[in-house]
Amino acid sequence: MAIIEWKDCYATGISEFDTEHQNLVTKINRLYEVIRSKEGDQSLSSIIDDLVDYAEVHFAHEEQLMADHNYPELADHREKHADLRKKVSAFKEQLDQNNPQLPLQLFNFLREWLLQHIVEVDGNYSSFFKDKGIG
Ligand SMILES: [Fe+2]
Repeated sequence: MAIIEWKDCYATGISEFDTEHQNLVTKINRLYEVIRSKEGDQSLSSIIDDLVDYAEVHFAHEEQLMADHNYPELADHREKHADLRKKVSAFKEQLDQNNPQLPLQLFNFLREWLLQHIVEVDGNYSSFFKDKGIG
């Protein structure tokens, strides 16, 4: 598993969200760097906290725009964000248990979740918002 490289196919065409997605990718890659360089638990938990905080801000932006425009899949989308939130906090609870594999498992999980979510779930709002003149 390696760091995430941004590809054009990840773009939703909604520029605010594409920027935020790229920032999330940068933060997930930073997590990988910290794991590899073994910078220590302190930076690991601050990187994870920063990532989680940023994801929350981003999810709130997406959900707000969806709500403003009565996006039909809002409830389902919101559930997917909530599911991620639950899984990441489960990871965080286990972090204290000194499992050396856990940070990498978290990285792999986030990497997979984000890319799949961007392409398969966020991708669905592209044309909806574009039709409303948002890009
Ligand atoms: Fe999303």
